[in-house]
Amino acid sequence: MKISILGTGKMGSAVGRQLAGCGYQVIFGSREPKANMERFSGIENISVKNYTEAASAANVVVVAVPWSCTLELLKSLENQLKEKVIVDLTNPLSADISRLVVGGDNSAAEQIASRLPESHVVKAFNAITADNFPKPDLTGEQAQVFYCSDNEAAKEVVRKLITSAGYEHKNCGALSNARYVEAIAMLWLQLAFWEEKGSQWSFKIVGDFEGAHG
Ligand SMILES: NC(=O)c1ccc[n+]([C@@H]2O[C@H](COP(=O)([O-])OP(=O)(O)OC[C@H]3O[C@@H](n4cnc5c(N)ncnc54)[C@H](OP(=O)(O)O)[C@@H]3O)[C@@H](O)[C@H]2O)c1
Repeated sequence: MKISILGTGKMGSAVGRQLAGCGYQVIFGSREPKANMERFSGIENISVKNYTEAASAANVVVVAVPWSCTLELLKSLENQLKEKVIVDLTNPLSADISRLVVGGDNSAAEQIASRLPESHVVKAFNAITADNFPKPDLTGEQAQVFYCSDNEAAKEVVRKLITSAGYEHKNCGALSNARYVEAIAMLWLQLAFWEEKGSQWSFKIVGDFEGAHG
Protein backbone atom coordinates (compact mmCIF):
# COMPACT_ATOMS: atom_id res chain seq x y z
CA MET A 1 0.00 0.00 0.00
CA LYS A 2 1.21 3.52 -0.80
CA ILE A 3 1.29 6.29 1.81
CA SER A 4 2.30 9.87 1.07
CA ILE A 5 3.75 11.97 3.87
CA LEU A 6 3.88 15.74 3.44
CA GLY A 7 6.99 16.97 5.26
CA THR A 8 10.34 15.30 5.90
CA GLY A 9 10.93 16.71 9.38
CA LYS A 10 11.20 14.91 12.71
CA MET A 11 7.67 13.52 12.87
CA GLY A 12 7.15 12.84 9.16
CA SER A 13 10.47 10.97 9.02
CA ALA A 14 9.66 8.92 12.12
CA VAL A 15 6.26 7.84 10.79
CA GLY A 16 7.59 7.26 7.27
CA ARG A 17 10.52 5.14 8.37
CA GLN A 18 8.30 3.05 10.62
CA LEU A 19 5.70 2.41 7.92
CA ALA A 20 8.34 1.75 5.24
CA GLY A 21 9.84 -0.81 7.60
CA CYS A 22 6.49 -2.64 7.65
CA GLY A 23 6.33 -2.79 3.86
CA TYR A 24 4.32 0.33 2.98
CA GLN A 25 5.58 2.25 -0.02
CA VAL A 26 6.24 5.71 1.44
CA ILE A 27 6.36 8.80 -0.76
CA PHE A 28 7.53 11.92 1.07
CA GLY A 29 6.54 15.37 -0.12
CA SER A 30 9.25 17.98 0.28
CA ARG A 31 10.21 21.48 -0.78
CA GLU A 32 13.62 20.07 -1.64
CA PRO A 33 13.15 16.49 -2.80
CA LYS A 34 16.65 15.96 -4.17
CA ALA A 35 18.42 17.11 -1.01
CA ASN A 36 16.08 15.12 1.20
CA MET A 37 16.31 11.95 -0.91
CA GLU A 38 19.91 11.67 0.22
CA ARG A 39 18.75 11.40 3.84
CA PHE A 40 16.69 8.34 2.98
CA SER A 41 19.00 6.76 0.43
CA GLY A 42 19.45 3.06 0.95
CA ILE A 43 16.16 2.74 2.86
CA GLU A 44 13.80 0.38 1.10
CA ASN A 45 10.30 1.58 0.16
CA ILE A 46 11.01 5.33 0.51
CA SER A 47 11.04 7.96 -2.22
CA VAL A 48 10.94 11.77 -2.02
CA LYS A 49 9.05 13.98 -4.46
CA ASN A 50 7.74 17.52 -4.49
CA TYR A 51 4.53 18.21 -2.61
CA THR A 52 2.25 18.07 -5.66
CA GLU A 53 3.69 14.78 -6.86
CA ALA A 54 3.55 13.24 -3.39
CA ALA A 55 -0.05 14.34 -2.83
CA SER A 56 -0.99 12.75 -6.17
CA ALA A 57 0.88 9.51 -5.54
CA ALA A 58 -1.24 7.83 -2.85
CA ASN A 59 -4.82 7.67 -1.60
CA VAL A 60 -3.71 8.11 1.99
CA VAL A 61 -1.79 11.32 2.75
CA VAL A 62 -0.24 12.17 6.13
CA VAL A 63 0.15 15.87 6.95
CA ALA A 64 3.43 16.37 8.87
CA VAL A 65 4.33 20.04 8.42
CA PRO A 66 4.28 22.86 10.99
CA TRP A 67 0.80 24.15 11.71
CA SER A 68 1.79 27.65 10.60
CA CYS A 69 2.09 26.54 6.96
CA THR A 70 -0.43 23.67 6.93
CA LEU A 71 -3.57 25.35 5.60
CA GLU A 72 -1.77 27.22 2.84
CA LEU A 73 0.02 24.05 1.70
CA LEU A 74 -3.15 21.96 1.74
CA LYS A 75 -5.13 24.61 -0.13
CA SER A 76 -2.54 24.46 -2.91
CA LEU A 77 -3.01 20.66 -3.06
CA GLU A 78 -6.80 20.61 -2.87
CA ASN A 79 -7.24 19.02 -6.32
CA GLN A 80 -4.71 16.27 -5.63
CA LEU A 81 -6.29 15.49 -2.24
CA LYS A 82 -9.94 15.14 -3.31
CA GLU A 83 -11.64 11.96 -2.03
CA LYS A 84 -8.46 10.92 -0.21
CA VAL A 85 -7.86 9.99 3.42
CA ILE A 86 -5.93 12.81 5.10
CA VAL A 87 -4.16 11.80 8.30
CA ASP A 88 -3.57 14.97 10.31
CA LEU A 89 -0.81 14.65 12.90
CA THR A 90 -0.22 18.39 13.29
CA ASN A 91 -0.48 20.19 16.58
CA PRO A 92 -1.42 23.87 16.32
CA LEU A 93 1.40 25.13 18.53
CA SER A 94 2.76 28.60 19.08
CA ALA A 95 6.31 29.13 17.77
CA ASP A 96 7.79 28.60 21.25
CA ILE A 97 5.61 25.46 21.79
CA SER A 98 4.25 26.94 25.01
CA ARG A 99 0.55 26.87 24.01
CA LEU A 100 -2.03 25.89 21.41
CA VAL A 101 -2.99 28.68 19.03
CA VAL A 102 -6.21 26.87 18.04
CA GLY A 103 -8.49 25.20 20.56
CA GLY A 104 -11.58 25.43 22.66
CA ASP A 105 -14.30 25.37 20.04
CA ASN A 106 -12.05 24.50 17.08
CA SER A 107 -9.02 22.38 16.14
CA ALA A 108 -6.35 22.04 13.48
CA ALA A 109 -8.11 18.94 12.14
CA GLU A 110 -11.46 20.72 11.80
CA GLN A 111 -9.81 23.64 10.02
CA ILE A 112 -8.13 21.20 7.63
CA ALA A 113 -11.48 19.50 6.99
CA SER A 114 -13.05 22.89 6.22
CA ARG A 115 -10.18 23.67 3.84
CA LEU A 116 -10.51 20.25 2.12
CA PRO A 117 -14.26 19.62 2.03
CA GLU A 118 -13.92 16.74 -0.47
CA SER A 119 -11.28 14.86 1.55
CA HIS A 120 -11.74 12.56 4.57
CA VAL A 121 -9.76 13.87 7.52
CA VAL A 122 -8.64 11.70 10.44
CA LYS A 123 -6.76 13.11 13.43
CA ALA A 124 -4.11 10.61 14.57
CA PHE A 125 -0.50 10.20 15.69
CA ASN A 126 -0.29 13.76 17.10
CA ALA A 127 0.14 12.76 20.75
CA ILE A 128 3.23 10.55 20.31
CA THR A 129 6.58 12.30 19.88
CA ALA A 130 8.95 11.71 16.99
CA ASP A 131 11.64 10.41 19.35
CA ASN A 132 9.29 7.89 20.92
CA PHE A 133 7.48 6.90 17.72
CA PRO A 134 9.86 4.07 16.70
CA LYS A 135 9.30 2.47 20.13
CA PRO A 136 5.60 1.61 20.55
CA ASP A 137 6.50 -0.60 23.51
CA LEU A 138 8.48 2.16 25.17
CA THR A 139 7.25 1.48 28.66
CA GLY A 140 7.17 -2.29 28.36
CA GLU A 141 3.51 -2.18 27.35
CA GLN A 142 1.98 -1.26 24.01
CA ALA A 143 1.41 2.48 23.66
CA GLN A 144 -1.79 3.86 22.16
CA VAL A 145 -2.69 6.19 19.32
CA PHE A 146 -5.88 8.20 19.78
CA TYR A 147 -7.72 8.96 16.55
CA CYS A 148 -10.98 10.63 15.53
CA SER A 149 -12.88 11.35 12.34
CA ASP A 150 -16.39 11.72 10.93
CA ASN A 151 -15.70 9.14 8.21
CA GLU A 152 -15.87 5.47 9.21
CA ALA A 153 -14.10 4.15 6.11
CA ALA A 154 -11.22 6.56 6.66
CA LYS A 155 -11.02 5.49 10.30
CA GLU A 156 -10.68 1.87 9.19
CA VAL A 157 -7.72 2.79 6.96
CA VAL A 158 -6.03 4.64 9.83
CA ARG A 159 -6.65 1.79 12.29
CA LYS A 160 -4.59 -0.43 9.96
CA LEU A 161 -1.77 2.13 9.85
CA ILE A 162 -1.76 2.42 13.65
CA THR A 163 -1.64 -1.35 14.05
CA SER A 164 1.11 -1.69 11.44
CA ALA A 165 3.17 0.93 13.26
CA GLY A 166 2.95 -1.24 16.38
CA TYR A 167 0.40 0.76 18.38
CA GLU A 168 -2.98 0.04 19.91
CA HIS A 169 -5.68 2.22 18.32
CA LYS A 170 -8.20 4.09 20.46
CA ASN A 171 -11.29 5.45 18.73
CA CYS A 172 -11.94 8.93 20.11
CA GLY A 173 -15.11 9.55 18.13
CA ALA A 174 -16.03 12.51 15.95
CA LEU A 175 -13.54 14.83 14.26
CA SER A 176 -14.65 17.65 16.56
CA ASN A 177 -12.99 15.71 19.40
CA ALA A 178 -9.67 16.65 17.77
CA ARG A 179 -9.96 19.75 20.00
CA TYR A 180 -9.30 17.49 22.96
CA VAL A 181 -6.91 15.07 21.23
CA GLU A 182 -4.75 18.07 20.30
CA ALA A 183 -4.94 19.30 23.89
CA ILE A 184 -3.59 15.91 25.03
CA ALA A 185 -0.46 16.54 22.95
CA MET A 186 -0.14 19.98 24.52
CA LEU A 187 -0.42 18.47 27.99
CA TRP A 188 2.39 16.03 27.08
CA LEU A 189 4.60 18.94 25.95
CA GLN A 190 3.76 20.97 29.04
CA LEU A 191 4.66 18.11 31.37
CA ALA A 192 7.68 16.80 29.47
CA PHE A 193 9.36 20.05 28.50
CA TRP A 194 8.09 22.81 30.74
CA GLU A 195 7.70 20.79 33.95
CA GLU A 196 10.64 18.45 33.18
CA LYS A 197 8.86 15.16 33.88
CA GLY A 198 10.90 13.33 31.26
CA SER A 199 9.93 12.29 27.76
CA GLN A 200 9.92 8.49 27.86
CA TRP A 201 6.18 8.09 28.33
CA SER A 202 2.80 8.55 26.63
CA PHE A 203 -0.86 8.73 27.65
CA LYS A 204 -2.96 5.55 27.77
CA ILE A 205 -6.68 4.83 28.13
CA VAL A 206 -7.34 1.99 30.57
CA GLY A 207 -10.55 0.44 31.82
CA ASP A 208 -13.88 -0.28 30.16
CA PHE A 209 -13.55 2.04 27.15
CA GLU A 210 -16.25 1.26 24.62
CA GLY A 211 -15.20 3.23 21.53
CA ALA A 212 -16.36 1.22 18.51
CA HIS A 213 -13.39 -0.86 17.29
CA GLY A 214 -11.33 0.47 20.24
N1 LIG B 1 8.19 16.41 16.51
C1 LIG B 1 7.30 15.73 17.20
O1 LIG B 1 7.64 15.02 18.16
C2 LIG B 1 5.84 15.79 16.82
C3 LIG B 1 4.95 14.89 17.42
C4 LIG B 1 3.61 14.90 17.06
C5 LIG B 1 3.16 15.83 16.13
N2 LIG B 1 4.04 16.71 15.58
C6 LIG B 1 3.54 17.66 14.58
O2 LIG B 1 4.08 17.28 13.33
C7 LIG B 1 4.25 18.44 12.52
C8 LIG B 1 5.70 18.48 12.05
O3 LIG B 1 6.52 18.61 13.19
P1 LIG B 1 8.07 18.25 13.13
O4 LIG B 1 8.54 18.23 14.51
O5 LIG B 1 8.29 17.08 12.24
O6 LIG B 1 8.63 19.57 12.44
P2 LIG B 1 9.98 19.78 11.65
O7 LIG B 1 11.00 18.80 12.10
O8 LIG B 1 10.28 21.22 11.75
O9 LIG B 1 9.61 19.40 10.14
C9 LIG B 1 8.57 20.03 9.46
C10 LIG B 1 8.73 19.74 7.98
O10 LIG B 1 7.68 20.43 7.29
C11 LIG B 1 8.11 20.78 6.00
N3 LIG B 1 7.70 22.16 5.66
C12 LIG B 1 6.95 22.50 4.60
N4 LIG B 1 6.73 23.82 4.55
C13 LIG B 1 7.40 24.32 5.61
C14 LIG B 1 7.57 25.64 6.09
N5 LIG B 1 6.99 26.71 5.49
N6 LIG B 1 8.31 25.83 7.19
C15 LIG B 1 8.89 24.77 7.81
N7 LIG B 1 8.75 23.49 7.39
C16 LIG B 1 8.01 23.28 6.29
C17 LIG B 1 9.63 20.62 5.97
O11 LIG B 1 9.90 19.53 5.12
P3 LIG B 1 10.58 19.81 3.70
O12 LIG B 1 11.76 20.71 4.01
O13 LIG B 1 10.98 18.48 3.24
O14 LIG B 1 9.56 20.49 2.85
C18 LIG B 1 10.02 20.29 7.40
O15 LIG B 1 11.05 19.35 7.46
C19 LIG B 1 3.89 19.65 13.38
O16 LIG B 1 2.59 20.06 13.07
C20 LIG B 1 3.99 19.09 14.79
O17 LIG B 1 3.15 19.77 15.71
C21 LIG B 1 5.36 16.71 15.88
